[in-house]
Amino acid sequence: MYYKQQFANVLASKFNGVISEEEILFRIESPKQMNHGDLAFPCFELAKIKRKAPNKIAEEIASEIEDPLFEKVEAVGAYINVFLNKQKVSSQVIEKVLREKGEYGKLNLGNKGVVTIDMSSPNIAKPFSMGHLRSTVIGNALSLLLEKGDYKPVKINHLGDWGTQFGKLIVAYKRWGNEEKVKKDTIKELLKLYIIFHEQAEIDASLEDQGRLWFKKLESGDEEAIALWNWFKEESLIEFNRIYDLLGINFDSNDGEAFYNDKMNGMVEFLAEKKLLSNSDGAEVVDLSELNMPPCLIRKSDGATLYATRDLTAALYRQETYQFVQSLYVVGNEQSLHFQQLTEVLKKMGYNWANDMKHISFGMILKDGKKMSTRKGKLVLLEEVLTQAIDLAKQNIETKNPFMQNKESVAHAIGVGAVIFHDLKNHRNNDVEFSLEDMLRVEGETGPYVQYTYVRACSLLEKGEYTIKIDETVQLNDDQAWPIISKLMSFSQVIERALLTYDPSLIAKFTIDLAQAFNKYYGSVRVLQDDSHKYARLSLVYAVATVLQEGLRILGIEAPKEM
Ligand code: ARG
Repeated sequence: MYYKQQFANVLASKFNGVISEEEILFRIESPKQMNHGDLAFPCFELAKIKRKAPNKIAEEIASEIEDPLFEKVEAVGAYINVFLNKQKVSSQVIEKVLREKGEYGKLNLGNKGVVTIDMSSPNIAKPFSMGHLRSTVIGNALSLLLEKGDYKPVKINHLGDWGTQFGKLIVAYKRWGNEEKVKKDTIKELLKLYIIFHEQAEIDASLEDQGRLWFKKLESGDEEAIALWNWFKEESLIEFNRIYDLLGINFDSNDGEAFYNDKMNGMVEFLAEKKLLSNSDGAEVVDLSELNMPPCLIRKSDGATLYATRDLTAALYRQETYQFVQSLYVVGNEQSLHFQQLTEVLKKMGYNWANDMKHISFGMILKDGKKMSTRKGKLVLLEEVLTQAIDLAKQNIETKNPFMQNKESVAHAIGVGAVIFHDLKNHRNNDVEFSLEDMLRVEGETGPYVQYTYVRACSLLEKGEYTIKIDETVQLNDDQAWPIISKLMSFSQVIERALLTYDPSLIAKFTIDLAQAFNKYYGSVRVLQDDSHKYARLSLVYAVATVLQEGLRILGIEAPKEM
């Protein structure tokens, strides 16, 4: 934030280099309580160096500071508290938003460096789970955040389209499958077949062998196996794409596990050359016991490759293809060992960039405190969840605003926005309790609440026939606006923190705080009153609308103009 920089600057000039400006900047705090000012600097460090009492030092320096940007500078204990000049700062902040609009808050952190984001990555022939939803939504928000920070994100859908399970599925389909049924309801039918296979395999052990055999056939390019696999994949993708369309999310690459099929040999040979492979019950593994980790499985005794083999190959391919500065994997926290193993194996191979790979883990979605299961008929179909949310939003519109135009698209924005916001508002590592009713409430910390606040701001602007006059100074005369201004001015800082910690929930919380501050203001100030400050108040409203919309956009949520 500009004002923090300014404060650091002034302090640095008083400290004569005893503490560097960088460190000062790092130590400046934003007091939680309004009566402690807008910025605060603790003098403990300085006191130690100067061998003086911290409160003495704070007093001395506070009395020396004079700057038109600061209304008041006072020492409280060991702290130097600064109160910004509200009028000046308010004008500056609002004018900046009016000038920059959607660009407001952007940062020059990434220098266009590529960040690959492994996200979504459902398994074909299996339902799109709640975990995959989380990965999709979190990955998308991270990509938008990274863009805002001047990185170049590459969204990769690492489809689970390879592995022994497809051998089993082929066996099951050939035995019990029905083409018509699979065409009609692909994922449900294929899941059924998969379940039958496992039930039967407990009775007839030879089924497992057949499954392995068919996967071998698949890996060696057998025509029949490939044709069936292709078909399962195409039909599954049709279902997944319906979900991506609903969410409004797309990918830069759909290279799934199968894509690395013809690229794995080179990787395995390199492991062998580096003498990293050892034999464990006939399987080839990379031993990681000195790191207290189980071995990383590379090739089974029958030569079949594994999940890790494909991920190692994919990591190499991504580094070569994109020369990423960071490579993110948005995957549930139950896979954290897998990603630690990947990094360690790559480091053993001599690749330092393995340290730029990051597992962005997340918790589960719970229903009544339990994990939402895709097994045993307790299947919760995500598509149904999304269409239900949209339907509920539509019903709300029908009762409140039956003559609204674009009902369909507004209901879509609210329903989907509610689901996304609910997911993103808590730190990603927390488990999330799933409740459609909670998500769609217009009060409380929900997507619809933020969207509704945006709508309210838009309608004020329309009623007030507001247009931006870029050359006019914005002069607010009410102190009630200050909580809004102080939120607005922290936007880029919040973006930076969210980026550095891969935490979109900070943005969600920011939009809630800003919406609450605005609604409070709206409740106590007559924005449209015809006086000389009307333009300034409406400019404030415009700034709020702009930043709310931008915050929602970064989360992957639309902001309709009415609802
Ligand atoms: N398909 C996997 C699953 O559903 C997730 C893949 C995550 N990405 C990766 N590169 N391993 O569990």
